[in-house]
Amino acid sequence: MVYKVLVDEKQGLLELPQKFVAELAYPFVGREEEAKVITLALLAREHVVLVGEPGTAKSALARRAAELLNVRFFKYLLTRYTEPAELFGPLDIKGLKEGVYKRITRGKLPEAEIAFLDEIFNANSAILNALLSILQERVLYDGYTEIRVPLWTMIGASNRVPDEPELEALYDRMLLRHFTKPVEENKWGDLLDASWRIESGRIPPPTPIMGMEELKKLHKMVLEVNYQLVKSKLLKLYAIFEEKGIHLTDRRKGKALKVIAAHAVLNGRLKAVEEDLVVLKYIAPRDEEDLDKVTAIIAEELKTPAKYLRELADIEANTRELSRIIEGIPDYDPRLVEIHRNLRIARERVLELARESGNESVEAKAQEVIYIIDTLLERISKKLGF
Ligand SMILES: Nc1ncnc2c1ncn2[C@@H]1O[C@H](COP(=O)(O)OP(=O)(O)OP(=O)(O)O)[C@@H](O)[C@H]1O
Ligand SMILES: [Mg+2]
Repeated sequence: MVYKVLVDEKQGLLELPQKFVAELAYPFVGREEEAKVITLALLAREHVVLVGEPGTAKSALARRAAELLNVRFFKYLLTRYTEPAELFGPLDIKGLKEGVYKRITRGKLPEAEIAFLDEIFNANSAILNALLSILQERVLYDGYTEIRVPLWTMIGASNRVPDEPELEALYDRMLLRHFTKPVEENKWGDLLDASWRIESGRIPPPTPIMGMEELKKLHKMVLEVNYQLVKSKLLKLYAIFEEKGIHLTDRRKGKALKVIAAHAVLNGRLKAVEEDLVVLKYIAPRDEEDLDKVTAIIAEELKTPAKYLRELADIEANTRELSRIIEGIPDYDPRLVEIHRNLRIARERVLELARESGNESVEAKAQEVIYIIDTLLERISKKLGF
């Protein structure tokens, strides 16, 4: 009985991240991937930055993520002139008089569990150093204060990838990076409707889906994920990235595992499979040029359900083409024997794809293709007089 309750609880928990992704993306057009990346960061207890041109809903997504979480939230828009006190709280004047340097951190970044810094790469040097230790060690140390902070995930947004060397360390700490693109032309109609709904206040304020307690439990699951199955493939991908001039710092190489594991948990698994390595496209690239390369490498190297489905679609198209050709071939023609043989080979391949993928939709598609092949095999047999 107790065991069943535990199982149910685990199952219930595992359903939360998907629900969160759906709820986060819901008011927007084409922002499902952004919602996924933010959720991965939350599960992995890592930081994420959305980089993209103005008006692509970066801020709106971060705000909504906070509304969907029952957590202490801090948000701020950084300019070059932002003072440390604006983020970390003012120095306590009373304390100062007694010679104690202390910040009043109430309601500021040092007390936040989730934080959103808009235009994060505007951080000036006074803020940058404190930010670096907050992000990495979760300690605020700015010469006045040294305190542990509860920050779980920082969401950053910016219009650009930083090219200043002094911002490199900050960018490196944003483990997940996503480049938001404007909505594609075929969805502009939807964009107008969605925008109208948002602007006219027709999107009800969301009810939180989870709080820190759930996040911590989910994160614990993430840390229990078994990654042995994908380790060698991951190493191979790192080697290819390096060869193609895409360099991951050692920090990112190691931490990527947490995001891979988070992707497994997001898909209800406690075991990482090859498909989970797709998250490398949020970790390996430093800019969009890298992203194109990484996406191509991943598409080439990973056996994803999409890849299996593509091969099945090819086999299906070929089979249908053969079916047309056969119509024009007279009975007992020796070419039919050849086609029959090739179809048997294709059939074997389809079965193999279904087995290998371990994915329901691939298996369903494979069944369909097998049916088409079998029907055709039967027709050929008849034409051959078997
Ligand atoms: N994909 C979208 N779907 C629906 N509405 C959108 C979408 N993109 C933008 N909008 C609308 O545009 C508004 C502005 O977006 P937001 O301020 O979040 O952009 P931003 O990327 O943060 O821009 P900036 O870089 O200038 O800060 C949103 O509140 C929303 O109403
Ligand atoms: Mg913004």
